[in-house]
Amino acid sequence: QILILDFGSQYTQLIARRIRELNVYCEIHPYNHAPNLTEDIRGVVLSGSPCSVRDADSPNPDLSRYLGQVPVLGVCYGAQLLAHQQGGEVLPATIREYGRARLARVNHESPLLHGVPTESQVWMSHGDTIKSLPAGFDIIASTPEVAVAAFKIAEQETYGIQFHPEVTHSTDGKTLLQNFVVNICGLDQSWTPEHFVDSMVATLQRTIGEEDQVILGLSGGVDSSVAALLLHKAIGKRLHGIFVNNGLLRKDEYEDVLHSYKDLGLNVRGVDASQEFYAALTGLTDPELKRKAIGRTFIEVFDREAQKVDGARWLAQGTIYPDVIESVSVKGPAVTIKSHHNVGGLPEKMNLRIVEPLRALFKDEVREVGHTLELPVNILHRHPFPGPGLGIRILGDITPEKVDLLQRADAIFINGLKEHGLYEKVWQAGVMLLPVQSVGVMGDERTYERVVALRAVTSVDGMTADWAHLPYEFLAEVSNKIINQVRGINRVVYDISSKPPATIEWE
Ligand code: XMP
Repeated sequence: QILILDFGSQYTQLIARRIRELNVYCEIHPYNHAPNLTEDIRGVVLSGSPCSVRDADSPNPDLSRYLGQVPVLGVCYGAQLLAHQQGGEVLPATIREYGRARLARVNHESPLLHGVPTESQVWMSHGDTIKSLPAGFDIIASTPEVAVAAFKIAEQETYGIQFHPEVTHSTDGKTLLQNFVVNICGLDQSWTPEHFVDSMVATLQRTIGEEDQVILGLSGGVDSSVAALLLHKAIGKRLHGIFVNNGLLRKDEYEDVLHSYKDLGLNVRGVDASQEFYAALTGLTDPELKRKAIGRTFIEVFDREAQKVDGARWLAQGTIYPDVIESVSVKGPAVTIKSHHNVGGLPEKMNLRIVEPLRALFKDEVREVGHTLELPVNILHRHPFPGPGLGIRILGDITPEKVDLLQRADAIFINGLKEHGLYEKVWQAGVMLLPVQSVGVMGDERTYERVVALRAVTSVDGMTADWAHLPYEFLAEVSNKIINQVRGINRVVYDISSKPPATIEWE
């Protein structure tokens, strides 16, 4: 594998993505928790950083445990750090060095730059520049403005590049990274979803004792479902899945998803706790109080069900790589685990150990693994859905009647998206039941009924989102169907706000 040392750049995850796209496994570690060299680590990448090597408190770890032992590639700050640590001169750049640039001189003899054309476009983003290199450092590429665009240290496979090969604007960035990981580090490109499945199954079989039972909370989402399939492949019926109906799922979802799980041969128990959740929510209108009540009830129900599993030794979780990076970051506290990954005090109370088979994967990699394991598309391509479910899409207090109303309107919208081939084009969609009534006329009757808002967004990660520009004809059809078929709703509006500032959920 490749070890990526993170110095806090916004692009660090992208480096990992690009290397994995080459079917080579890599891991990101914060520079201040850098692991020692092991046989597995065949190369090291030093990331960029918002810091300057000239600042006294900038990241400055001892790299001697890697240099000269395995190939090293410094990117931007990483390159400046290599030069700075060995006596080179790094100064503020006198001209702007942001955005596109073109290489002007390229040493094609260098294995790092094989196949990279002389005029290749590269992406620069740095405030400092390397003015002079230490003895034994050779320039291997320049741009008209940046003399030291790339260098190599003589007698060792250590390289530095000032530009960012991981961003798509560096047109030959992928070639360069491939040269590094394949030709220079000597890694074969065998890290495929199939390979991941085989090796993870073997690892799970090795780690989980032969008599041990494993508990997993299933949500119907991609992550927990893929985690379940991997564990099922490894330990069969010793995996005990628990799927809780909180009464706030989409229409028919509890039955449909449970059915899919059973079809897959998973040992999953459905627990319909809807009434318990409704009871806990009675009279609550504040969104945070509702979230807390839902979370607390989930823990109670899950705890109770989990205690029924004899011989339980492990709690499995669908944690994925971005959660891991977020919780162990350069900036953040050393190890904080996101709260939604903790199932109450269950691990301590039952003396459970945690197993997280997906903790090395990005979301799209989880999907690829799910595809390999033949997870049905209704789960594989499911939109994200919040844990508190419809509970935060019913504004104000929650009653079973309101849930029923919203489920029916939501089903019309979601099924419509699917029928019109729009479901896969939006990142997330749903309907909000507003605490507003409005006047309407239906036939000769005057009505005074509820308003719903349709919400559909495009996004990459949910952090920012744009409202989806759905066709008017489609919106008209959905609006008509909802008003005609769902008694109690007489007005439909479409939310045309982007995030920020408007969050995807209304509560
Ligand atoms: P917002 O509304 O903050 O949502 O723009 C971003 C993403 O997070 C989901 N979301 C939640 N997921 N528990 C969850 O598990 C929650 O309390 C929660 N609130 C929002 C939301 O559906 C979207 O995908």
